[in-house]
Amino acid sequence: MNRATGSVAAPRVVSIADFRPMARRRLPRAVFDYLDGGAEGEVTLRESCRVYEDITFRPRHAVAFADCGLATRVLGCDLSLPFLLAPVGYSRLMHPGGEVAAARAAGNAGTAYLLSTISGHRLEDVKAASAGPVFYQLYLLGGRGAAEAAIDRARAAGFSALVVTIDTSVSGMRERDYRNGMKELISGTVIEKLPFLPNVLSHPRWLASFLLDGGMPGLPNVVLPGKGPMPLVDVTAALAAAAVTWADFHWIREHWRGPIMVKGVLTAEDALRAIDAGAAAISVSNHGGRQLDCVPSSLRALPEVVKAVNGQIEVLMDGGIRRGTDIVKALCLGARAVLCGRAYAYGLAAAGETGVVRAIEILRADLDRALRLLGCPSVAELDRSYVNVPKTWN
Ligand SMILES: Cc1cc2nc3c(=O)[nH]c(=O)nc-3n(C[C@H](O)[C@H](O)[C@H](O)COP(=O)(O)O)c2cc1C
Repeated sequence: MNRATGSVAAPRVVSIADFRPMARRRLPRAVFDYLDGGAEGEVTLRESCRVYEDITFRPRHAVAFADCGLATRVLGCDLSLPFLLAPVGYSRLMHPGGEVAAARAAGNAGTAYLLSTISGHRLEDVKAASAGPVFYQLYLLGGRGAAEAAIDRARAAGFSALVVTIDTSVSGMRERDYRNGMKELISGTVIEKLPFLPNVLSHPRWLASFLLDGGMPGLPNVVLPGKGPMPLVDVTAALAAAAVTWADFHWIREHWRGPIMVKGVLTAEDALRAIDAGAAAISVSNHGGRQLDCVPSSLRALPEVVKAVNGQIEVLMDGGIRRGTDIVKALCLGARAVLCGRAYAYGLAAAGETGVVRAIEILRADLDRALRLLGCPSVAELDRSYVNVPKTWN
């Protein structure tokens, strides 16, 4: 990053991968590994990035068109791009701008931002920052009382949709977080924090920005009835009691009444259950490899889900997307759009809003180039005829 101007010099950040070492340098190890890591042996995390290599393209050369159509529609919202920014908890730890910065960048680029329940910024401020649609990702953190208050606030603030994440009955075993003392740093006593402080102190630039920001004391969108915002010290334990069941989903649907996306579907069976429960969209997702390790990559699970859904509701997917060509492959296999998580979060961690803007621009330019090289004029026309899919994939 150019420290004088705050801009991310284009020649240095050519691809999303260039942001990762920048984020690693700026963040304390505990925060970087929280962003970068996955569950247990990280088998699913690695596979989720690698699997795109199994698909190759079938380009149609010598086809000319003036404009490339990247626009799509998700849950009634017109988007200029076929990718949305996924919910990323604790974004405010990565950079003080956090969720507000990411939402603003998404809105200015004409796409949607999905705000995690685990946000350090008030949902009203996040919505106000964005010129585009914002969806609220709901965990039942703090129980139904807290969820009801958040749903009412999201409706009043003008959120376009709810996202209910179903793959988090308990938090995945993220070994890096345990080794780095993430829990102690967030909720431990000073004595418990001590062994982990030297690494934090060795990142003075991050520490100064964190302290100037007020240290992220709690979750302003998880307001416990009669008590106020949930303090950060209580979040780890509360997550363990925040599992969403289909019965909860019915309750959420009754209360929200607008469109709902179910995030975290990996099988035809769960996709059909989501349709029965009244979801308007699903995201095929393994939570970025952070929950149950050794589940398939989302790309590998996508054909099964698309076939089962058979056009009844919108199918999105997320996981491992680092390039525009990854997005093109997912769309060829039947996704309407994708969610990007770490691809923009590395940018946020490296350079705040400027980093998110640059990450979105890289993916947009990638997409435009890939469609032109493929000989396909718009994302709406992408289908299986543009890719070679391994015979073992159904
Ligand atoms: C640091 C981090 C925090 C996340 N927090 C949430 C969250 O609060 N809620 C949620 O539904 N998904 C969460 N996710 C999962 C993302 O929404 C998305 O499914 C995942 O990042 C996609 O994989 P990718 O990072 O490879 O793009 C998180 C992911 C990361 C990396």
